[in-house]
Amino acid sequence: MRIDIITVVPDILKSPFEASILERAIKKGLVEIHLHNLRDYVSDNYKQIDDYQFGGGAGMVMMIEPIDKCISKLKSERAYQEVIYMTPDGERLEQRTANSLSLHENLIILCGHYKGVDQRVRDQFITKEISIGDYVLSGGELGAAVLCDSIIRLIPGVLGNETSALTDSFQDDLLAPPVYTRPAEYKGWKVPEILTSGNFPKIEAWREDQAYKRTKALRPDLLKED
Ligand code: ADE
Repeated sequence: MRIDIITVVPDILKSPFEASILERAIKKGLVEIHLHNLRDYVSDNYKQIDDYQFGGGAGMVMMIEPIDKCISKLKSERAYQEVIYMTPDGERLEQRTANSLSLHENLIILCGHYKGVDQRVRDQFITKEISIGDYVLSGGELGAAVLCDSIIRLIPGVLGNETSALTDSFQDDLLAPPVYTRPAEYKGWKVPEILTSGNFPKIEAWREDQAYKRTKALRPDLLKED
């Protein structure tokens, strides 16, 4: 998979891909991340990428031309199934969004800033608008990093254990059951006996029951019929 991220602050997006699972996925050649500085697509000397809004009002708006140049160049090089815009008024990022995006070959992610982008960018180029939650960040970059992480860990071969992404919270609209590791007893606090019993069908049934109970207690909204 190849992900092209268009941003005015590429520095914010360097470190998330330089550690742990995402770094390993890149080193293994399972994903390529390409950061594009929008200012490289501006012809004037001031490298201006934003301007005042028509009709007046506070806040700058990202101009269409540099974004058009960047997206058009990328599209002339390969086919992109989705051009995503990170914005607080997009659809909320959910596990199912990550699941379906992880199946794509090439993705473009555009990070918004200031008051956002000229509406014509959204009308002409964007196929999906994503928010990572109902709060406003100072730009789309951290949202893009969250989105990339949620997608990349689903690519086959990225996680050591192929099945572990499937048992995550939300994968089947349930929270994950509790997990334990050694020691089996610490300061008198014991691991549930069933987990050390070696009876795998019973362990599986216990986990399912725990997942259901946790979801009912903590996120009953997930159990509601769609
Ligand atoms: N840009 C600013 N706030 C955002 C949010 N909540 N999600 C995605 N992009 C954003």
